[in-house]
Amino acid sequence: MYLEGEGDAMTKPGNRFFAPENPLSNSLAPIKDELAVQIQHLNFAFGKGDLCKQVLFDISLNLPKGQIVILTGPSGSGKTTLISLIGALRTVREGSLRVMGQELADMRNADRVRVRQSIGFIFQSHNLFESLTARQNVEMAVELLGRFKSKRDQAEVILTQLGLADRMDHKPQALSGGQKQRVAIARALVNHPPLILADEPTAALDKQTSREVVTLMQTLTREQNCTVLMVTHDNRILDVADRIINLVDGQLESDTNPDAFINSHTYKNSKHDDAKMFIM
Ligand SMILES: Nc1ncnc2c1ncn2[C@@H]1O[C@H](COP(=O)(O)OP(=O)(O)O)[C@@H](O)[C@H]1O
Ligand SMILES: [Mg+2]
Repeated sequence: MYLEGEGDAMTKPGNRFFAPENPLSNSLAPIKDELAVQIQHLNFAFGKGDLCKQVLFDISLNLPKGQIVILTGPSGSGKTTLISLIGALRTVREGSLRVMGQELADMRNADRVRVRQSIGFIFQSHNLFESLTARQNVEMAVELLGRFKSKRDQAEVILTQLGLADRMDHKPQALSGGQKQRVAIARALVNHPPLILADEPTAALDKQTSREVVTLMQTLTREQNCTVLMVTHDNRILDVADRIINLVDGQLESDTNPDAFINSHTYKNSKHDDAKMFIM
């Protein structure tokens, strides 16, 4: 049996990281440097009293540094809630959630702001400033501390990598939906954060652009040992994941590698991968 967070279990795809018989389950495991995210017995509810609605149930999950992890599951299963707790956008009240070794449970607001600075967020809606050009939207996110390249250079490099070299001086209203989303992605990636949290980042992108975006994320994780947690229903990009976690009704339903996930969650008689329908 593999223990959570131990050696081979972290690198072999297909192993489950939340074994119910885990002897550590009644105590908190030690903080491990190789883990970007360490979650233990996390519960979360919206509202209070009679209106209280629990949406996450006893989530225990480790994300090692350098992995691309896809989080999937039906609408309303708690994916956005989980990603916003990991991103220190909501307060953890029950259970333990550590990001880069820092415990978020009951953390003060000022400290949560600091944790958020080490995370690159990519949301469904792009949230760009309409009055700024693509380049300026990215430049304003650049932190200069300890970096040798100028803001302008860094913004140009990342925008070019995302195929926007000839769109840098356009404002959002002159960009397509896919282009705007790529600017938002450039803004999230420009400081090379150790953790990237993405909520349906390719939903508005065509096949080729989706592929370019996830390939860039893959390169970053390999080169910089950064970790990506990405919510997606986009079955065109499942293959980039080291792991696929399925959340159903606020509980972890499976944690497996892409091939095993696709085999167990699709109709097998489909001729083309793109045409496969998810049973979710
Ligand atoms: N701010 C909120 N207040 C109350 N309930 C919420 C709030 N946000 C989400 N929920 C509820 O929590 C559940 C999980 O939502 P969400 O995390 O957005 O799911 P997903 O991202 O998987 O679609 C849903 O039942 C949703 O209605
Ligand atoms: Mg969601």
